[in-house]
Amino acid sequence: MRGKMAETTQTVTAKAAQSKEKASRAEAVYRRRFERHLDELKWLYMELYDNGSMFAELCDCLHRFYEERDRELKKKDMEREKCPGWYRGNDMLGMMLYIDNFAGNLRGVEEKLAYIKSCNVNYIHLMPFLDTPKGRSDGGYAVADFRKVQPELGTMEDLESLTAACRREGISVCMDFVMNHTSEEHEWARRARAGEGEYMSRYFFFDNDTIPAEYEKTVPQVFPTTAPGNFTYLADAGHYVMTSFYPYQWDLNYRNPRVFNEMMYNFLYLANKGIDIMRIDAVPYIWKELHTQCRNLKQVHTIVRMMRMISEIVCPGVLLLGEVVMEPEKVAPYFGTLEKPECHMLYNVTTMATTWHTVATRDVRLLKRQLDIVGGLPKEYVFLNYLRCHDDIGWGLDYATLRLWGFEERSHKQYLNNYFQGYEGESSSKGELYNADPVSGDARFCGTTASMCGIETAACLQNEKAMELAVRQDVTLHAYMFMQSGIPVLYSGDEIGRVNDYSYKENPDKAADSRYIHRGRMDWTLAEQASDEKTVSGQIFQSLDRLEKIRRSEKVFATRADMRTVDTKDTNVLCIGRAYEREEILGVFNFSEYDKEVSLSGVDGEYTNLLTGERMGTEKIPLPAYGFYYLKKNL
Ligand code: GLC
Repeated sequence: MRGKMAETTQTVTAKAAQSKEKASRAEAVYRRRFERHLDELKWLYMELYDNGSMFAELCDCLHRFYEERDRELKKKDMEREKCPGWYRGNDMLGMMLYIDNFAGNLRGVEEKLAYIKSCNVNYIHLMPFLDTPKGRSDGGYAVADFRKVQPELGTMEDLESLTAACRREGISVCMDFVMNHTSEEHEWARRARAGEGEYMSRYFFFDNDTIPAEYEKTVPQVFPTTAPGNFTYLADAGHYVMTSFYPYQWDLNYRNPRVFNEMMYNFLYLANKGIDIMRIDAVPYIWKELHTQCRNLKQVHTIVRMMRMISEIVCPGVLLLGEVVMEPEKVAPYFGTLEKPECHMLYNVTTMATTWHTVATRDVRLLKRQLDIVGGLPKEYVFLNYLRCHDDIGWGLDYATLRLWGFEERSHKQYLNNYFQGYEGESSSKGELYNADPVSGDARFCGTTASMCGIETAACLQNEKAMELAVRQDVTLHAYMFMQSGIPVLYSGDEIGRVNDYSYKENPDKAADSRYIHRGRMDWTLAEQASDEKTVSGQIFQSLDRLEKIRRSEKVFATRADMRTVDTKDTNVLCIGRAYEREEILGVFNFSEYDKEVSLSGVDGEYTNLLTGERMGTEKIPLPAYGFYYLKKNL
């Protein structure tokens, strides 16, 4: 008896010693990370805020969030620290989805992980799910509480359960961190509206319009038709408040260190729920300065750099994905430098818009140029490639170059919008304008990939030939997207060719926002046809499946490979070459409805068609209308 007790006491002591040792090891890890960044973090913080006590508070809280971080997550952090390029391989494939549309709620998504895996997807972007007011939510981008899930979608426990299940399945989870603004229903906003100075100073409040009017002189508008001006007058409070997006989204004032600290705590709180990728929403807008455009200011980079260091200290497994929907010169700086990196990933937005320009014109010249620019960037830069996302397509193209070829900005935008509505230029596309400005004639565009490729029209007309071409174009666009360097992300529903959903017009909360046309419900009946190649959904699903498997098995698809375009002597046909070590792959894509015969200049040797296994040369290759090849060089 006594022996047993002694043994138990010994085990308890041993266990206590073990856990003490573990704790001190974890502490040493933290110290190492903290020490590595302390000087620079402090320097930047003091430069921006000159407030030592707020910095001390930040440091204390970082430590607390680290202590609270789950052991499993800490383990993953260490693995990723050892392999910092974990997201740059050829095995990554993303999918973005709305939780309610896809599976009702978070539990539903967890139940559908098998489907997600069957799409070869190992990264899901859960569209905004934090608490947001009904009808004034901007699709969830107006957050009322950063620590609460929308009740219809579930709870924080459900989120943790989903991220844990994803971790077991090797799926990374991305969420939006909407840091530029809060909803007017957020506690801070309510207290600011009630006149509490402490909270008013977390936003931009003015008791008359003098300063707002000064801002308006230089700040362009994001939503010119739905929200004219960058300020909203609150009649009850007798104040103007800055609202760059919708009037119910109040811009946060990052000049106030309390805002920065608290938002970082929210960020870490969410990271600790098992999130792998934080999409920093609308990041170029987060710093405001009178007499500037209030976009991409240098303080924005200071803040993003601090966020990067903070996440490397507390949760280095987490990636930052910057949402910078801007021209290319403005995008790349958000990667920071090699020594002082900012975001891990950025959207390849200009390439996306240029792709649709190419679809509408059949002219690949601008896309070729754009791809060569991206291909010439450092290999450390990881782009997120996509055809469609939850937002509209803005026609941010390189008009200086287009002008040389006779395209004029205003009339070309009009052509693109007409084309995609199906009005002009041999088009069978369907979709709707977004934020059409009758004064400037400017508009952006909404629709799903399938509808923009003519699948909806072909189905309406029951035209089999047109359907065959539309499906081929849809698949070819995906094949082309997979050829780019970075992480391809599918828009949920695209894998089964989901068309536009017009039901949003009957919902008064959504009717004014045409982006809902491509935010429809997942059609699980269509998904059931995924393995049946006699159906349109099955054809798309199976074709993408083959491409995704090729991409995953060939290392020339990794981000570190070289990417360049090859001249095809045909403005309708694009050729992308990828090379890594001794391996080479060519992707040849016909953007026109004509059958072609293509000769690739400057490439020789024998190739294998990766889809059929057939041997092929590079001269006089027959290329069907909207068809493509993946060719691998024989060694
Ligand atoms: C981002 C989102 C968009 C939202 C805006 C304001 O651009 O993608 O959907 O309207 O931010 O938060």
